[in-house]
Amino acid sequence: MRVVITGASGFLGALLAGSLLRARVLAGVPITRLVLADRVPWPGSQGGTDPLVEVVHGDLTDRVDEVFAAPVDVLFHLAAAVSAECEAERGTGAGRLDSPLPVNLPALTVSIAEVLATLRQIAGDAVADLVTIARDPVVEAMVGSWPADFDNRRAAALGLRPDPGFETVVQDYLSGPGVEPPGQSAPI
Ligand SMILES: NC(=O)c1ccc[n+]([C@@H]2O[C@H](COP(=O)([O-])OP(=O)(O)OC[C@H]3O[C@@H](n4cnc5c(N)ncnc54)[C@H](O)[C@@H]3O)[C@@H](O)[C@H]2O)c1
Repeated sequence: MRVVITGASGFLGALLAGSLLRARVLAGVPITRLVLADRVPWPGSQGGTDPLVEVVHGDLTDRVDEVFAAPVDVLFHLAAAVSAECEAERGTGAGRLDSPLPVNLPALTVSIAEVLATLRQIAGDAVADLVTIARDPVVEAMVGSWPADFDNRRAAALGLRPDPGFETVVQDYLSGPGVEPPGQSAPI
């Protein structure tokens, strides 16, 4: 079988490549070709290439034809830009994430009173009356440090939209798999 590992010089890819080269089989089927694709030279190639190995060196987007030049039986796709590299790539203007700043996802700011009102509206008085209010200075200090206002312009430019209101957040949850609708829900 022809096995491809993209990101083969990375942390996981190199471990996987080493393991497959030692085993020479995958799921009991002999490996006839192990394609190791990465833009970083494969570390193993310095000590003489194993006859099983075909190194595809370069950016995957340029070398993809080489990877798929012959049928691929198993593909391990591990090529990825991780952590700091992602931010560096964003800094080069790749796509529309054109600066290293994080993207604030669209969010809602709701008060506890609004949350409780929504609970009463959807689940009814019997459920809402179970809630007791008790101030906790530790939680208050923590939650009070969270920003209540967000600049979501970058997210909006990417087409991401916030929920229209807290009620829709609850309704989305209730319509999810395995969630029983509240017995006393009031029409909304
Ligand atoms: N390391 C972990 O513990 C871990 C855990 C869970 C998931 N993952 C995921 O597994 C994947 C691999 O992780 P890793 O730790 O091996 O990362 P890594 O950064 O060590 O390896 C990624 C490799 O991909 C290569 N690469 C990236 N873009 C490329 C491109 N365009 N063309 C060719 N090569 C390219 C890089 O050169 C690098 O060698 C990632 O998606 C990561 O999120 C990793």
